[in-house]
Amino acid sequence: MRDTVTITDNRTGKTVEVPIDEGAIRATGLKELGLSSYDPAFLNTASVTSRITYIDGDAGILRYRGYPIEQLAEESTYLETAYLLIHGELPTQDELYGWTHEITHHTFLHENLKELMHGFRYDAHPMGMLVSAVAALSTFYPEASLVDDEATRMAQVVRLIAKVPTIAAFSYRHSRGLPYVYPDNELGFTENFLSMMFRIAEPRYRAEPELIRALDVLFILHADHEQNCSANVMRSIGSSKADPYSALAGAAAALYGPLHGGANEAVLKMLAEIGDVKRIPEFIARVKAGEGRLMGFGHRVYKNYDPRAKIIKQTADAVFEITGRNRLLDIALELEKIALEDEYFVTRKLYPNVDFYSGIIYQALGLPIAMFPVMFAIPRTAGWLAQWLEGVTDPEQKIARPRQVYVGAAERDYVGLGYRRTPGARSLATA
Ligand SMILES: CC(C)(COP(=O)(O)OP(=O)(O)OC[C@H]1O[C@@H](n2cnc3c(N)ncnc32)[C@H](O)[C@@H]1OP(=O)(O)O)[C@@H](O)C(=O)NCCC(=O)NCCS
Repeated sequence: MRDTVTITDNRTGKTVEVPIDEGAIRATGLKELGLSSYDPAFLNTASVTSRITYIDGDAGILRYRGYPIEQLAEESTYLETAYLLIHGELPTQDELYGWTHEITHHTFLHENLKELMHGFRYDAHPMGMLVSAVAALSTFYPEASLVDDEATRMAQVVRLIAKVPTIAAFSYRHSRGLPYVYPDNELGFTENFLSMMFRIAEPRYRAEPELIRALDVLFILHADHEQNCSANVMRSIGSSKADPYSALAGAAAALYGPLHGGANEAVLKMLAEIGDVKRIPEFIARVKAGEGRLMGFGHRVYKNYDPRAKIIKQTADAVFEITGRNRLLDIALELEKIALEDEYFVTRKLYPNVDFYSGIIYQALGLPIAMFPVMFAIPRTAGWLAQWLEGVTDPEQKIARPRQVYVGAAERDYVGLGYRRTPGARSLATA
């Protein structure tokens, strides 16, 4: 048995034999037939080989560098997980100490960048501020353009993981009209972020340990998700050898879109609209009749329980122990219970995804909806950078340049302005 596939062009009878490698065939194998493959939205096209994140959507499996997400959420911290994603291995104690020290000591922003953020309108969306501020960082570190130099690359990786939370917190403070809070180097990564967000006049802000842990777990769960829309943008911009700040600003812009980073907002709106546990059956009936969707349910990849949703549900319990129970959580729990037993959702393999609970948790932490995609961008920075590093060091990668199937007009002659007509319209002169 050969590991190949034979493709015959039935118009000409011409045949090619294309090797199968890791369950994939190369689309360039079709060239011999004068054909290309057409795959809008990459539904069945791999654009990279990767060693970072593994997903088996049917089995509900997610692993970073081989480690199950459940174990990382239970045992690891966000910074350790970020190290794992970037370097490929869990750090030793000394490596973790060095990494934590490096990140902690790069959290400050240049005062000019602070001024730049200060220049945004009072009601600027924090995600728009984040995208712009990250892009602006490239002007502060022009050496970042040396993407072929390993030491330079790693310096920008540290800077970005360290500074994105500061930018995120400043964007929130700006939208609240509050003074920016500088990083506190005595605090851990996640507690420092909470301090930059919520500190008012106290000499040192201390968050509840359970809340710090809950947010750290959310950060672990959101750190990477293989070749999603924003990771693809990160790699695509990186493929032109642009600096990582510009690439990450592009990736964050992709995350800004409601189809990517905004689903948890839609869940909150839906829960508020349902308003009461008693109204759930009526809502489910409407969804089954095709009048809208059950937001936070279903996933392009997961056709089983999203493993992150299971963990996030436990995290929600820990958060609500402290913040008090949110009315929306009761609706969400009941909705999930009913949907998981309902034949409509069972047969379509519709299970809760990560967004079903994350919005309720962010709301319980006191965050406005506009901050939700920003909360996603903070941990995803590690994933984007891991994807970028893998891309720029992959000898097989070239500048990303998809093909197209041209279906526009055939060649035609230019028509002078005075001779052009809207099809079917009478000319003004004769009207
Ligand atoms: C995530 C999502 C876009 C994936 O879509 P997809 O893989 O392309 O699946 P499809 O849209 O082809 O749906 C397949 C079937 O399930 C139904 N379906 C999918 N998601 C549904 C939902 N959330 N509620 C009700 N029905 C749903 C579709 O109507 C379709 O039914 P049909 O076969 O009778 O026509 C989709 O499940 C969805 O819109 N979910 C809600 C939004 C959401 O939570 N997004 C966050 C993703 S992280």
